[in-house]
Amino acid sequence: MTANTNATLQNPILFDHTKEILARRKALVADGVGVFCPTAAVSANGAIINDADGNTFIDFGGGIGVLNAGHCPPEVVQAIAKQAEQLIHTCFHVSTTSVYLDVCQKLIDLFPHGEATKVMLTNTGAESVENAIKIARQATKRSAVLCFSEAFHGRSMMAMSLTSKINYKINCGPFAPEIYRLPFPDYYHYSDGLTYEAFIDRELERLEHATHAMVDPNNIAAVIIELVQGEGGFNVAPREYITGLRRFCDKYGIVLIFDEVQSGFCRTGKWAAYQHYDVVPDISTWAKSMASGMPLGAVMGKQHIMDAALPGTIGGTYLGNPVCCAAALATIEVMTKQNLNERAISISLIVQERFERMRKNHTCIGDIRGLGAMQAVEFVKNSDPNQPDTELTQKLIAACLQRGLIILSAGANKNIIRILSPLVITDQQLGRGLDIIEEELNKIYTAINI
Ligand SMILES: Cc1ncc(COP(=O)(O)O)c(C=O)c1O
Repeated sequence: MTANTNATLQNPILFDHTKEILARRKALVADGVGVFCPTAAVSANGAIINDADGNTFIDFGGGIGVLNAGHCPPEVVQAIAKQAEQLIHTCFHVSTTSVYLDVCQKLIDLFPHGEATKVMLTNTGAESVENAIKIARQATKRSAVLCFSEAFHGRSMMAMSLTSKINYKINCGPFAPEIYRLPFPDYYHYSDGLTYEAFIDRELERLEHATHAMVDPNNIAAVIIELVQGEGGFNVAPREYITGLRRFCDKYGIVLIFDEVQSGFCRTGKWAAYQHYDVVPDISTWAKSMASGMPLGAVMGKQHIMDAALPGTIGGTYLGNPVCCAAALATIEVMTKQNLNERAISISLIVQERFERMRKNHTCIGDIRGLGAMQAVEFVKNSDPNQPDTELTQKLIAACLQRGLIILSAGANKNIIRILSPLVITDQQLGRGLDIIEEELNKIYTAINI
């Protein structure tokens, strides 16, 4: 299964076809479309990717959190083919399709937002975020939006404005106005020596203080937050903070938006991360794993909020394409039948146990965190959360790739590795992937400490 055993960490060996394809990419595709992992896939199944040179890789990246139900689940492939034979496109504004409505009904059954819930479908996560903000603004007739440090909400203009990481935004401004950012309630990085309880109190006070110091609360349309930050490095929002945030939004009539684009659809061991919190949002945003890689997203929300958007202000040519909708229905069925929520919990236990074992031998592991099968390890120097070890992390990722494991980094400093493997991964594949990480970390750590 291994790609190559003789590669060095600094000089990843690329095979001929992969090299050729990456060279073509370099010649044809704008450089700004970044390469996160120098592979060239030709097919995939379950948790395994096959490349252009006949190598196989265990996939811990899952197409960046898109493949919770696995690569090419047969039921989804069949549903796509069947729908494509029947109807590919009319545009939902032009002709209503039942398959779109079936997806909406399914989502409402899974994620009721209070007594009456409504849905609009989108193509991507960023588009879900864009529309969520437009809807919240129309519903409140206010303009300001509160968001958080380390947030990632996408690359379209509003979504990028809400995104925190500078590298995603260089020279792309001016950004959307009326955006105010608070530190994400991240105890590991920002505790400042406080107890957990005192930290939560301080962060909630900071939120309240923002209404005097930063922005008039009567002009805040929405607060948008990822309960588990994806690109930010799997920082998990404390339960007490989210309860306080809900109270804050209710007090000032602010729309609370949970961005579930990366955390949704069984990833955390529940259909939604918010179901761990006993807090219901006013609006939620979805995409990624809901259609196994077909471009589909959703905005859902309380009916009176969703219906505040005037006809014509939200929508688009491809939104809720019938083939993508058929893929979503089949994906949700696979997730239900295979009980992927339960599987996410068993994956989380296996991963956490292994990471804890690694931590015993490696002081470079500063933190292990996550929710369900959204687990991450942060590498730091001198056990200091403020000294990211980016070099070690990048070496580890490159070394894992040479051993046939695809794994992604996260965080502003790219010093975090995150597990986003398909949830259909077998115990054997998961164990093998974790073996590779552990073995390569041992080698790097030994080399550094000689
Ligand atoms: C939480 C979150 N929101 C929004 C997005 C943007 O989604 P897309 O890339 O589909 O536009 C992402 C993508 O990683 C995400 O993780």
